[in-house]
Order: sequence, then C-alpha cells, then structure tokens
Amino acid sequence: MKAVVYKGPFSVAVENVDKPGIQHPNEAIVRVTSTAICGSDLHMYEGRTAAEPGIVFGHENMGIIEELGQGVTSLKEGDRVVMPFNVACGFCDNCVEGFTGFCQTVNPGFAGGAYGYVAMGPWAGGQAEYLRVPYADFNCLKLPPGNEHETDFILLADIFPTGYHGCELAQVRPGEKVAVYGGGPVGLMAAYSALLRGASKVFVVDRVPERLAKAQEIGAVPINFAEGDPVQQIKDQTEGVGTDKGVDAVGYQAMAHGAAREEPATVLNSLVDTVRATGALGVPGLYVPADPGGPDEQAKRGMLLVSIGKLFEKGLRVGTGQCNVKRYNRFLRDMIIEGRAKPSFVVSHDLPLDQAPSAYDKFDKRIEGYTKVVLHP
Ligand SMILES: NC(=O)c1ccc[n+]([C@@H]2O[C@H](COP(=O)([O-])OP(=O)(O)OC[C@H]3O[C@@H](n4cnc5c(N)ncnc54)[C@H](O)[C@@H]3O)[C@@H](O)[C@H]2O)c1
Ligand SMILES: [Zn+2]
Ligand SMILES: [Zn+2]
Repeated sequence: MKAVVYKGPFSVAVENVDKPGIQHPNEAIVRVTSTAICGSDLHMYEGRTAAEPGIVFGHENMGIIEELGQGVTSLKEGDRVVMPFNVACGFCDNCVEGFTGFCQTVNPGFAGGAYGYVAMGPWAGGQAEYLRVPYADFNCLKLPPGNEHETDFILLADIFPTGYHGCELAQVRPGEKVAVYGGGPVGLMAAYSALLRGASKVFVVDRVPERLAKAQEIGAVPINFAEGDPVQQIKDQTEGVGTDKGVDAVGYQAMAHGAAREEPATVLNSLVDTVRATGALGVPGLYVPADPGGPDEQAKRGMLLVSIGKLFEKGLRVGTGQCNVKRYNRFLRDMIIEGRAKPSFVVSHDLPLDQAPSAYDKFDKRIEGYTKVVLHP
C-alpha cells in the first residue's frame, strides 16, 4: 500500500510499504478515507525530535472498517470510524481515570502512545491506505454512515479535542476573557472551543495573516505579534487587567516577539504576563525533554527559563500535556452532528495522498494559506 514515509529532515516520500494485517483478536484494519497533517508532525519533519527515517507519519485518522479481529464486539465491517491520535488500552489505571493520553500499557516504559509518532510506541501512522488499530472497541469512535461532515469529523482525531482540552486545562468558564497564543489549527480550535464554552472575549495571537483572518471570522480578536508586544495589545483591550485565562497553542518552537529567532519560553512567559492574578493557563502546545535543534544547551535538554517567580506571585494555575481525546470526542462529534459546531472552517486544503511532500513543505513554511491539510488516500 502507499504511505507517507519520513526520509530525514524536511523530506517525506509516498512509498509502497507492507499493508498491515490483524495481529491480535482485539484489532481492526481501517481503510483510511481522511488523514490530516498536524503541527506535531512538523516537529519531526524539521528534524527537531529523535525521529529516525523510515517512520510512517499520521496520527489523525478516520476511515471505514475493512477487517476485524474475532474479539471485537462493538464494530462491524463497513462502519465509519475516527480514532483518537492516542493509542490506549482502556484498562490501565490512567485509562480508567480518563487519562487515555497517558496509557501505561501501549508504549512500555512510557505513559502515552500514538500512531506514527516518535517515542510513542510501535504504532504505524495512518497517512497511508490502511491503518492497524489495537483495542478497536475502545479506540474507534463510530460516525454516521456516508460521507457527510468528513472534514469536520477528521478533526475529532486530534485538533478539535486538543483545542477543547486547552480550555479544559485552563478551566474556561462562561463570560471569561481568554488569550490564545498560536493561530495554527490547535490555536484556532482552542479559540473556537472557548467561544463554544461561552467566553465573552477571545484573543488569538499569531503573525500569519490567513490564520489571524480565520480567528476574526469565528468572532475572536486577532493580535499580530509582529506589530508590537502582544501582552500590551491585549492589556490595552482589557482595561489593563489582562485576561482571565490563557492557552499556549504554540509550544517550544515559539518565535521571539520582535526578533527573527526561536525563543522556546516566550509564549509561557507572555501568558504569565497576559493572564490576571489567580487565573489559569492551559498548555496543549508541545514541550519536549530533548530538542536536538534547541537554541542553547539548556533548551537542548528541554530546560527553559520560565518566570516561575511571577507565576507563583500571581497564583496562576497551569495544566499541561497530551490531550485525552477520548474524554471529549463523543460529545464534540455530537455537536457536529447536531449543527452546533463546524470545526472544518480551519481546513485549508483537501488533497490526494500523493501530494503529501509538497503539502508538508508548504504547511511547514506556513505559506499559500496552508493552515490544515487533510489527505485522502
Ligand atoms: N497536547 C496535544 O495533545 C497536542 C495535540 C496536537 C498538537 N499539539 C501541539 O500544539 C502546537 C500547535 O499545533 P498546530 O498544529 O496548531 O501547529 P502550527 O505550527 O501550525 O501552529 C503554531 C502557530 O504558532 C504561531 N507562533 C509561533 N510563535 C508564536 C508566538 N511567539 N506567539 C504567538 N504565536 C506564535 C505560528 O505562527 C503558528 O501559526 C504544536 O506544538 C503541536 O505539537 C499538541
Ligand atoms: Zn495532530
Ligand atoms: Zn491504558
């Protein structure tokens, strides 16, 4: 079958690889109809992780059940399903508590597994014609048959729940003001989720014009950090107080405000300044324990200079980590079905799998309006 294979920094190729088969009675083989490229894939694509060439990318996957192991009871061939990017068992302590992003059994020695991702276990990615799904009863979310809402439902694999998770970590409540740093797909979904949760005012900070335009389209206030200090711009629009809550949807590859270089702690420190005392920060943006391309020795070891003193002084709470997609995907699916949410406004490109190499290149450069790419094998 055809699959998107990582060849080395800034290089992927569509190649023929072995089609997966059932290896355990609890598994399913899914014929992939949609699979999205994520900002998380770019960390690997840019050589900023320990990913080795040969890995098949793709953790945001949906499709049709092609084949089922004998132990799978809740699904049948032909069912349309979307899978959380997390691979989870459903029975370990963390899964039972709802922390499926930190499953203790699917990636030995580590809490958390995912498809097609470095250090997240042996699970091949779904930017391919077929995907093997373990614990299929637990990991497949059933969707209505047909092809309606295809580009809404694919976002249930990661970015819609992840944006929502950013708001959950920050405990966003009705009426609150929220600052979202990062207007990429995750940031836009965080802003959209904050509005769904009843926020009174939502700011989205970025510098890419198409992304700021999408933020404005959904009713958020765009803040261009290339035009001046974003903290000041937000304070100017909140009577000098700042926001109640903040979401970091950028992570460790944050660009410095006012200089053309990366500064990994910039967004965390801006959020400490943006959010009022006793507020809370949700951090779905990725931070890594080792970054081969980090700007200094500390950053290479995942250690950043965060203003912990001011964070403490302001009594801010911080929530971090991978999204536990299964905690939210059913409810968010139903919001899509009932017409209460339409996250596909974020999708900029629907392309055949063959176009993955150029899509990675353009998405990575954030040019030509590439915001969210969905590939169709
Ligand atoms: N926690 C999770 O489960 C989870 C899931 C998916 C993605 N992620 C992470 O979320 C982050 C965002 O993902 P994405 O797909 O939206 O990526 P993306 O790279 O498309 O978006 C990041 C955006 O941040 C902007 N940016 C850069 N520096 C900035 C700064 N200093 N201030 C404000 N904006 C800045 C960039 O211009 C870009 O538009 C990534 O780190 C990704 O790995 C986490
Ligand atoms: Zn993703
Ligand atoms: Zn588990």
